Amino acid sequence: NLSQESGEFKAELNPMLTEVALTEQVKPTFWLYNGMMLPVIDVNLGDKIDITVNNQLTEPTTIHWHGLSVPPSQDGNPHDPILSQQTGRYQFDITSDMSGSHWFHPHTHLLTGKQVAQGLAGLFIVRDPNDPLQHLPEQNLFFSDLKLDETGQIAPNDMLDLMNGREGQFALINGQWQPEVTLSGTERWRLWNGNSARYLNFDFPEDSVEVFLVATDGGLIEKPIKLSSLLLTPGERAEIVISSKDLKPFNLISKAYDRDKMGPVAKEEDIILASVRVVDGKKIDLPSNLAKLTALGEPVVTRQLIYTEEMMPMRFLINGKSHDMNRIDFTAKKGDVELWEVTNNSHMDHNFHLHGPQFQVVEFERNGVITKPDYLLYKDTINIRPGETLRILTQQNHLGIRMYHCHVLEHEDAGMMGQLEVL
Ligand code: C2O
Ligand code: CU
Ligand code: CU
Repeated sequence: NLSQESGEFKAELNPMLTEVALTEQVKPTFWLYNGMMLPVIDVNLGDKIDITVNNQLTEPTTIHWHGLSVPPSQDGNPHDPILSQQTGRYQFDITSDMSGSHWFHPHTHLLTGKQVAQGLAGLFIVRDPNDPLQHLPEQNLFFSDLKLDETGQIAPNDMLDLMNGREGQFALINGQWQPEVTLSGTERWRLWNGNSARYLNFDFPEDSVEVFLVATDGGLIEKPIKLSSLLLTPGERAEIVISSKDLKPFNLISKAYDRDKMGPVAKEEDIILASVRVVDGKKIDLPSNLAKLTALGEPVVTRQLIYTEEMMPMRFLINGKSHDMNRIDFTAKKGDVELWEVTNNSHMDHNFHLHGPQFQVVEFERNGVITKPDYLLYKDTINIRPGETLRILTQQNHLGIRMYHCHVLEHEDAGMMGQLEVL
């Protein structure tokens, strides 16, 4: 919904304070790009992006292109703030490896969680002209969180938010609370977990719908995978093809998921995200092959990352350290295939996000038991349970600093982040 001429995408994204009337009485002040809730950038492979940012906030900000392997200098790293009332510019090319459902959000030093909670985020869809599913009707479902205080304004974080990540009273879809979604025949749904911390554990009712996973963070997978549930943690995306079986309405539900939060927290409960109205529509058969993915080769380097936590003061650490903008934690050579082993020795779930190219999931290990995905998939964010080790293959393609972190934004801001310099 931002303007585009063919081959070039030139736009302004100006963060500003915007009052939004949710009801007659409840009118919180959000921080929104151009005063719009969740703007959508929709471009094609090969396009050139040129975005100007006039920061109308009273604090610095950046825009990070989550999922897109843009050069680090254009990636909205915390090192490159756009100061209040200043202008910044992001320019990059949409290269052949970038198709998929991505997004953008601030990545400001210590302020990422706050700025996202105020409403700063948007969708970034990259289309491939050879996408075999391009004629399917589509819907974008962007999940985010809203926590209001008694006065109807966006609430500050409390102690529990800082420990467990912020979760509000309202689990939103496209900025609305429990909207009605219409499903007609077979549709492609792009799903974004844009929550600061809420894990989404979709449970698709098998007597109402048939669901296939067709894409992960890194775009299409090789073949459609039938599923009835899907865990999507903060920052992750998935695309599904969903077909109704009859015309009965149903609820889109996130099942209770226990991520071992700390402190006096309420027991997890199922959440109704949307009610789905089903109307008669065209059923479409899926092709048996979606995309050809190439596996990364043998790694030449192995790295170990260990997540831990400390109480009093509450700290979340990687390899015993808290994020420091002036410290490079690892250096890598551009083009080298690396094996990363990320172990979660904290007692709660954390996910792992790496900037730059999508990584390939090799396996998980927990209590000596190894689980390998049964299909090739590219991800940029993935969950790690307590006691679990994630193994991934990565290959960086640009010089500069790449961030990696837990995408529970309050954990990232609390220091659960590190820096890889690509030389
Ligand atoms: Cu979506 Cu480093 O972030
Ligand atoms: Cu990112
Ligand atoms: Cu975390």
